[in-house]
Amino acid sequence: MKKIAILGAAGQIAVLAEKMLLNDQDNELILFLRHPNKLDQSKIDNEREKIVVGDASNYDQVKNAVAGADIVYANLAGSNIERQAKTVVKAMDAEKIKRLIWISSLGIYNEVPGKFGKWNKDVLGSYLTTYRAAADVITASDLDYTIIRPAWLTNKDEIDYEETLGANTAFKGTEVSRKSVAKHVVDLIEHPEKEIKANVGLNKPNTDGDKPAWY
Ligand SMILES: NC(=O)c1ccc[n+]([C@@H]2O[C@H](COP(=O)([O-])OP(=O)(O)OC[C@H]3O[C@@H](n4cnc5c(N)ncnc54)[C@H](OP(=O)(O)O)[C@@H]3O)[C@@H](O)[C@H]2O)c1
Repeated sequence: MKKIAILGAAGQIAVLAEKMLLNDQDNELILFLRHPNKLDQSKIDNEREKIVVGDASNYDQVKNAVAGADIVYANLAGSNIERQAKTVVKAMDAEKIKRLIWISSLGIYNEVPGKFGKWNKDVLGSYLTTYRAAADVITASDLDYTIIRPAWLTNKDEIDYEETLGANTAFKGTEVSRKSVAKHVVDLIEHPEKEIKANVGLNKPNTDGDKPAWY
């Protein structure tokens, strides 16, 4: 059995990843979240899923939730994301868990080139600074982390993506589906030895432009 703690488990990417992870009978999931009413309780597999209510900025709650997990997948958000990152790192250290998958955002390293990069920076503003601070906490830790930086997210029912490896590698494309990001997370959980201490941009191929297509 592999035990995976999903932090922010009602998040949109997290819910897609959860469904994919349940396809593997060897996976057990800890669903950590603030608002359990946001989960479709009728779809919970009580044999292999445990819901834990808590806040990712609360050390005791995170530590208790991740205890016994082999891998932590953090699908978090919010203006206090840096504090959440510190809490997750501290709780994982305390529980001697090494493997972390952390969802961040394109643009935190000023790695998006051209007109789209400028537009992205103008639109996202302080969100990028906040998310960068959180990513810095993760990269400064001794965890076996993978930071994933998705392009602008869509709800398209497709898995179609490519990667840019490295924080300083020019980002490609403008969009990617949540389903693609979930698939990448699940691949890493299935092969946890892949992309350790890696910083990965995800985008849909051939979506370069000055803005995402719907703007
Ligand atoms: N939208 C885009 O185009 C885009 C592009 C790149 C990256 N991203 C980022 O990618 C990440 C994942 O995307 P998504 O669509 O899955 O996001 P999402 O649906 O907003 O999920 C984020 C989850 O984080 C949870 N959360 C926030 N603060 C928390 C806390 N203190 N403790 C516990 N849970 C907390 C939220 O739960 P609550 O229901 O309790 O608030 C929510 O379920 C987000 O950080 C997003 O900003 C977005």
